[in-house]
Amino acid sequence: MFDFKPEAGADSREVYRQLVDAAEALPADEPDGVANMANVASLLWEFLPNLNWAGGYRVAPTKTGDGKELVLGPFVGRPACIRIPFGAGVCGAAAETGETQLVADVHAFPGHIACDAARQSELVVPILRDGQVVAVIDLDSPNTSRFSKADAEGIGALANILSERV
Ligand code: SME
Repeated sequence: MFDFKPEAGADSREVYRQLVDAAEALPADEPDGVANMANVASLLWEFLPNLNWAGGYRVAPTKTGDGKELVLGPFVGRPACIRIPFGAGVCGAAAETGETQLVADVHAFPGHIACDAARQSELVVPILRDGQVVAVIDLDSPNTSRFSKADAEGIGALANILSERV
């Protein structure tokens, strides 16, 4: 039985182990990507301290249908930018490069998108399927330098689980 919260006193590595276990315990045969991402946004919020936004963006058609861009998915936090072109801001950089973006101070990141003035640091991890970015996980914090390499690895493990589920 999962209570979908980390055990008291668990260290960072253990918190991520429990987070990944909780994500795997969610129905593996559910094909609806929005539903799955909604539960993962909730898990991120429940498990990780010092966040002010946790959720994801999915790669989806542009409004005019002439290409693809990131479109807001389920999240916990304040309302956010709905559409982000590849290459724009931190999320767009992750989508374009397929690489994790660990940003200690978003104000120093060229072209960062200021959805929320309270946001200071950010971790964006791409979700890949067959070598293509299909979505990104986005975590924001009101604290500078909130995220470490251990966070990037833990969220990377979560992104692997989501590869076939978003
Ligand atoms: N993280 C984004 C903007 C979206 S919000 O932070 C929810 C970016 O700078 O790319």
